[in-house]
Amino acid sequence: MKLIFLGPPGAGKGTQAQLLMHDLNIPQISTGDILRKAIREMTPTGVIAKGYIDRGELVPDDVVIAIVRDRLQEKDCENGYILDGFPRTVPQAEVLDTIVEIDAVVDFELPNEEIINRLSGRRVCPKCNSTYHISRLNGDTCPGCGEKVIQRKDDMPETVLNRLEVYEKQTAPLIDYYKNKGSLRVVDCTGQQVEGVYAEVRKVLGINA
Ligand code: AP5
Repeated sequence: MKLIFLGPPGAGKGTQAQLLMHDLNIPQISTGDILRKAIREMTPTGVIAKGYIDRGELVPDDVVIAIVRDRLQEKDCENGYILDGFPRTVPQAEVLDTIVEIDAVVDFELPNEEIINRLSGRRVCPKCNSTYHISRLNGDTCPGCGEKVIQRKDDMPETVLNRLEVYEKQTAPLIDYYKNKGSLRVVDCTGQQVEGVYAEVRKVLGINA
């Protein structure tokens, strides 16, 4: 399956992608994770991306498209993948259309109040990329690998508000873009636990229990 996970920041795309990748045995391709790794390693791409990410703005299309083009050629993508956070603009979607045919786009919907609560409490593991909410953590180490979890710089309150504005202006138009193509599947995440959302994701994708 070739899937796109779409939705505002903090809607739970990454959390759900991590569950589904294990069940379907396909990789999660998170452009956010790839860019943050590039920043940590101070690669030329990381140097370009840092300012945009820290301000909550989108990294330029050509930079992100080049990353995805390369990543999709890797062997583990042969049987499908979950694009998590890509495309994020109509030009990115148009280029993707020239590279692959996507099976389905899952749009995760969540009101802004819940997004702000989730992102302010989010902690991530810099080693294995697992994501947690502080209410589910016991201390400050990753239950998966024992590394100390951190707060993302772009999860600070002012930056979160900017990311929400950027989402409305630049990414939300993709909802109609994929609706018109007939590939959109909507999952309303409001008030739902991770497991409830995951059941819904499987349902809209037609994956049996
Ligand atoms: P990226 O890393 O993709 O960030 P995002 O889309 O803003 O998404 P998030 O990772 O913030 O949220 P998520 O929906 O994955 O939620 P999560 O599962 O973590 O991008 C970061 C930056 O990189 C962008 O701002 C941009 O600068 C750049 N970038 C990336 N891709 C780009 C592109 N294509 N073009 C240009 N620039 C690009 O969950 C959030 C929290 O909620 C966690 O704490 C989690 O534990 C908790 N949670 C999840 N589900 C539930 C639930 N059901 N109930 C309660 N808590 C839950």
